[in-house]
Amino acid sequence: MAGCRRCGEVLGSHTARGVRLLIRTACSRDREALIRFYESLSRETVYTRFFAIIRYFDPYVDSLLRNSRAVVVVAEAPDGRIVGVAEAVGDEGGGAESGIAVLEEFQGAGVGTALGAAILEAARACGFRRLYGYVMPSNVAAYRLALKFGARVVGMYESLYRIEFDLAEGEDP
Ligand SMILES: CC(C)(COP(=O)(O)OP(=O)(O)OC[C@H]1O[C@@H](n2cnc3c(N)ncnc32)[C@H](O)[C@@H]1OP(=O)(O)O)[C@@H](O)C(=O)NCCC(=O)NCCS
Repeated sequence: MAGCRRCGEVLGSHTARGVRLLIRTACSRDREALIRFYESLSRETVYTRFFAIIRYFDPYVDSLLRNSRAVVVVAEAPDGRIVGVAEAVGDEGGGAESGIAVLEEFQGAGVGTALGAAILEAARACGFRRLYGYVMPSNVAAYRLALKFGARVVGMYESLYRIEFDLAEGEDP
């Protein structure tokens, strides 16, 4: 990744379902593992993350990895498998749009919380002033996760909540 964090920078670790996960930034050498991660998600998880059904993730991953204003954080198992990803993609106005997904078998075990803390740290370090994302009103897990980190619902975009984190003032829990 060309972005503002060094490739493979370790931001923490987290044990979930008996597996010790490394929380680190991702870069171009993670391309295949990232594509495998997204393609192994269920349709439901893909839909709640992207609000669309997507089958082939090569274009998405390539655009992410080539974007110099994007920072990607992964949760990686000891065998190299990626089990969770959080991203912040910078916009023209000093903010960044974020998205997060965790493999179903690891959901509800704190991986989203670990990735949330890491992407907020990475986004702050990149100098983004605000991080925002879109969440379906029915997505209780994502909503609770965002609230834990001090997000505010700032409006609706089509049928989605727009949530924002003020990186200048917000503190992680
Ligand atoms: C949203 C998501 C990333 C959360 O990751 P996770 O690893 O399951 O999250 P955690 O285990 O750290 O839990 C985070 C919070 O959500 C709550 N939560 C997790 N799963 C939940 C569920 N199925 N129902 C209700 N709350 C849930 C947890 O209780 C926790 O809140 P708490 O600490 O106040 O108890 C994950 O569910 C996911 O990948 N969902 C599909 C993609 C998506 O919705 N992305 C968000 C839109 S971009």
